[in-house]
Amino acid sequence: MTALIDAAITFLALATSKSLNILITGGAGFIGSNLTLALQEKFPDARLTVIDDFRSGDFKNLAGYQGDLVAADMSRLNWREQFGDQKFEAIFHMASITDTTDHDQFRQTHDNVESFRRLLNFARPNKSRIVYASSASTYGSVTGASSEGTEAAPKNIYAFSKVIMDNIARREAASNDWIIVGLRFFNVYGPREAHKGVPASMIYHLSLQTAGYIAGAFLLLIGLWGLIQPDSSQVAARSLPRSRVAGFVLFTIAFFWSFWLLATMEMGEFSGFRKPLLFILPVGFLLVLRT
Ligand SMILES: NC(=O)c1ccc[n+]([C@@H]2O[C@H](COP(=O)([O-])OP(=O)(O)OC[C@H]3O[C@@H](n4cnc5c(N)ncnc54)[C@H](O)[C@@H]3O)[C@@H](O)[C@H]2O)c1
Repeated sequence: MTALIDAAITFLALATSKSLNILITGGAGFIGSNLTLALQEKFPDARLTVIDDFRSGDFKNLAGYQGDLVAADMSRLNWREQFGDQKFEAIFHMASITDTTDHDQFRQTHDNVESFRRLLNFARPNKSRIVYASSASTYGSVTGASSEGTEAAPKNIYAFSKVIMDNIARREAASNDWIIVGLRFFNVYGPREAHKGVPASMIYHLSLQTAGYIAGAFLLLIGLWGLIQPDSSQVAARSLPRSRVAGFVLFTIAFFWSFWLLATMEMGEFSGFRKPLLFILPVGFLLVLRT
């Protein structure tokens, strides 16, 4: 995240010294909001405009933002009507459907690709510099190192939509008089990603997992106490309030929640574990209920 923001700032500093008019799409999202707030801090005289339709963004990410915001779906927006002949020195295009488990092929390609196409059509006369978010998912499940030249092998419709964006960008930038930079982000993580829920980064989920490990270690310690000191631990356990019904309800909620998480979570290279785990979980649940 920091590297991206530093690169964006250098990009702008090199671009021009006059006052800047900058557009950030997807500015209410995770990366877009961090970028917007960093640009606001580094270029206090710049005129900033965010476009977002809040499908996965959150206004809370833009706390402290002092610029303009257009609430619109970019793939359906009439750009000329909205912005007239305004010229942007730079456009950072971060807006996209980011839920990789959304398998609606029309929605993913339409919304992601058409948003980009409309943006390019608008920016073409002024050749506004564009930095857009592509994705490492365009490489598919390669095991070796990936480089720009690695052939695209999208494994889902989200990645496919990013490949089409890359194809369009390559064609547009071929003339060499228009700077369009595509960034194939890998797993970006950092502040302001909590709103993403399941599609949030592995690192974010791992930090939640750390809390899970701590809770697990705590339970293990209590179990160990029962093993080493059965008499005193039984006395302590009997003094606690207990209810079979409440236990059943809590356990059932935990089971359904874990099952849903497992079924929908983006597991990247671990997706092969999904099916066996989805089988093991109900079996374990039923075995515990039998005891
Ligand atoms: N976070 C990562 O690890 C990662 C990895 C690879 C690629 N990317 C790409 O980086 C970009 C930013 O991702 P993010 O993690 O900040 O996701 P995010 O979901 O937090 O942000 C995306 C933002 O775009 C907005 N948006 C989506 N479609 C829109 C549309 N048609 N019109 C207007 N607004 C729209 C959403 O409301 C949201 O605010 C995306 O293009 C994503 O594909 C992110």
